[in-house]
Amino acid sequence: MWILHGLAWALLSPVLATEPSGQETSLLKSLGLSAKPSPKNPVPVPPVLWRMFQKRKARPDKEANSCRVEEWNVPGNIVRVFADQGRFLPEGQPQGWLCLRKLLFFNLSALEEGERLTMAQLELQFHHNSYQSPSPGQVLELRLYPVSPRGPPRPGRRPLVERSFVRLHKSLLFNLSAALKDSAIPGRNLTLVLEISASAGASGTPRSPCAGTDAFEATSLLLVTLGQQCQAAGRKRRSPPSPPLTPSPLCKPRRLYISFSDVGWENWIIAPRGYLANYCRGDCPFPLAAELNSTNHAVLQTMVHSLDPQGTPQPCCVPVRLSPISILYYDNSDNVVLRHYEDMVVDECGCR
Ligand SMILES: *[C@@H]1O[C@H](CO)[C@@H](O)[C@H](O)[C@H]1NC(C)=O
Ligand SMILES: *[C@@H]1O[C@H](CO)[C@@H](O)[C@H](O)[C@H]1NC(C)=O
Ligand SMILES: *[C@@H]1O[C@H](CO)[C@@H](O)[C@H](O)[C@H]1NC(C)=O
Ligand SMILES: *[C@@H]1O[C@H](CO)[C@@H](O)[C@H](O)[C@H]1NC(C)=O
Repeated sequence: MWILHGLAWALLSPVLATEPSGQETSLLKSLGLSAKPSPKNPVPVPPVLWRMFQKRKARPDKEANSCRVEEWNVPGNIVRVFADQGRFLPEGQPQGWLCLRKLLFFNLSALEEGERLTMAQLELQFHHNSYQSPSPGQVLELRLYPVSPRGPPRPGRRPLVERSFVRLHKSLLFNLSAALKDSAIPGRNLTLVLEISASAGASGTPRSPCAGTDAFEATSLLLVTLGQQCQAAGRKRRSPPSPPLTPSPLCKPRRLYISFSDVGWENWIIAPRGYLANYCRGDCPFPLAAELNSTNHAVLQTMVHSLDPQGTPQPCCVPVRLSPISILYYDNSDNVVLRHYEDMVVDECGCR
C-alpha cells in the first residue's frame, strides 16, 4: 500500500522529475534501492531474464506464488545477473597444458541485509568452437576454486567444481547453489579462480589445444534470492476479480495507469513501461453494504457519522487487496534485476 501511495504521489508531484525528495528516497528504499539508479554502462538484458519477464507478463497469474521462481522451482522473488569483473591471471607453474587461469570477481554489494540466497548459477560462455581436444583420449579439464576474499588470488585447496569436456564451446552452466549457500552473502564479494587445462595427451607433441584468452566470451552469475518481504509470511492469494470500471459514487477500485516515464523512472526501469495500478475512491455511506468490505469499526463510524456528519467523518475508502507485479530494472550497480514486488496493484477496496 505504501508503494502505491508513493507512486500515486510521485505521479502527481511535478517537482519529482527535477529533484529527489525524501518521499522518493523512502519509496526507492522500499524497492530495495539506496538511490535512484542512473545506469552508466547499461548492459544488454540477459536473455534468461527477458524470457522470465515475458512469461510472467503473458500470464500474470496472480494465483502463482509470487515468492517462488517457477523456472527453477526455488523460493525467491529477486533474480539478478552479475557480470564478472575479474582479470586473467598469469598461468604460473604449468602442469600439463594449463590453458587459462582467470579470476572471477562478482561484486554482490547490491544484495540487501537479510536476503536469503536460494539459487546460484554460473554461466561461462565461449566463442563457437573455442576449445577442442586435439588428439583422441585428450580431454579438457575445467576447475573452479574458491578464493578467500582477502587472500591473494591463488587457488584454494579443493575445487568447487571439476569437470572434463571433449570440447568447450557456447555456454556452460554450473550450479553453485550448494557451494555458495553460506559463503556468498556475508562476503559481499565473490572471488573464484577458473582454470582450464588439457590433460597430458598421448605421446608426441600435439599442438596446443589451448585457444587464446579471446576465445573466452563472458562469465556471469545468476542469483535468486528471497527478500525479507517474502520471508515474512507465506501469504495466500486468490485470483482477484478485475476492477469494475463503471462510474459510481460508492467506494470501489478506479482505473489508474502509472507510466514510469511520468515519474521520471524510465532510465532505470527496463520493463514494463508502466502498469495498471488502480486506486480506491468513493463514498462509504450509512448503512454500509456488505460488498464494501468494511470492518465493524467502520460500520459504527458510519452510524455515528449519519447522526453527526460534522463531528465524525465517513470511514475511508482504501485498498484491502493488492497484487504484485514483476519489474525488470538496473540497480545502483548497473546489474540487471528481475524482481517481484508485492502490493503494486489495487484489486479490491473497502471502507475502513
Ligand atoms: C571486496 O573485494 C575488494 C577488491 O578485491 C577488497 O578490497 C574488499 O576487501 C572485498 N570486500 C569484502 C567485504 O570482502
Ligand atoms: C542445484 O543444487 C542444489 C543443491 O545441491 C539442488 O538442490 C538443486 O536442485 C540444483 N538445481 C538445479 C537447477 O540443478
Ligand atoms: C561494488 O559495487 C559498489 C556499488 O556499485 C561499489 O560502491 C563498490 O566500490 C564495489 N566494490 C568493489 C570491490 O568493486
Ligand atoms: C470486497 O470484496 C469482495 C470479495 O472479497 C469483492 O468482490 C468486492 O469487489 C470488494 N469490494 C470492493 C469495493 O472492492
